[in-house]
Amino acid sequence: MPSNAPVGVFDSGVGGLSVLREIRQLLPAESLLYVADSGHVPYGEKSAEYIRARCQLISEHLLEQGAKALVLACNTATAAAAAELRERYPSLPIVGMEPAVKPAAAATRSGVVGVLATTGTLKSARFAALLDRFASDVRVVTQPCPGLVECIEAGELQAPATRALLLRYVEPLLTEGCDTLILGCTHYPFLRPLLATLVPSSVRLIDTGAAVARQLQRLLERHGLLAAGPAQPTRYWSSGDARRFADVLPLLLGDSANVLSL
Ligand code: DGL
Repeated sequence: MPSNAPVGVFDSGVGGLSVLREIRQLLPAESLLYVADSGHVPYGEKSAEYIRARCQLISEHLLEQGAKALVLACNTATAAAAAELRERYPSLPIVGMEPAVKPAAAATRSGVVGVLATTGTLKSARFAALLDRFASDVRVVTQPCPGLVECIEAGELQAPATRALLLRYVEPLLTEGCDTLILGCTHYPFLRPLLATLVPSSVRLIDTGAAVARQLQRLLERHGLLAAGPAQPTRYWSSGDARRFADVLPLLLGDSANVLSL
């Protein structure tokens, strides 16, 4: 596998772009492929079996396009499908992600941490194991956020309806005394500016995009696959409305690009 081969990144929709921008920043020499499974978003309310089948299909597509590594830029997909993908492709570098419970437990002063994530992530065995491992000394309050992903998919990052929904999800966490909020879904970092208007500035917001980029760097290094560059322009696919994805891309990433149908 040539080290200048691209890295395949995917999510249920636009959320993984918050991870892609961190990868670009840390690893500018890497060429990237991105699949938005927009025809099947949100993953958060779907069964693990359904998500596994989607992840399998998307991974095959990315490997056909020559990907040298995969990034599951989605907490929900990682919880449902990372183990199976690693079993199926044992020699392929695969990076998954999970809510930042460990750094949040280290950062909290009040001892209460809030987790905003999808229903699927919060009910997964992987998340339960994460709490067992890293949250024994803190209280963790979880908040599923149905409907929020759809607002972000529509590019409505500041709309009154998005604000109202976000407030409904965040308020109970503040009432519980959370001083640290985990953004446990890759869509949510795009709501940071809105969130900053809803929570006191003393409340820390933590997401894992940068940590995922560092993990990718470590894995590529270990496999001797770090690219020397120059990077090729990112190639995008959507399983849903490719035009709509292309329309929100500049808003979320400052990029404009041709989006192909998957
Ligand atoms: N962006 C995804 C995550 O990190 C999933 C959003 C969804 O499709 O529900 O969990």
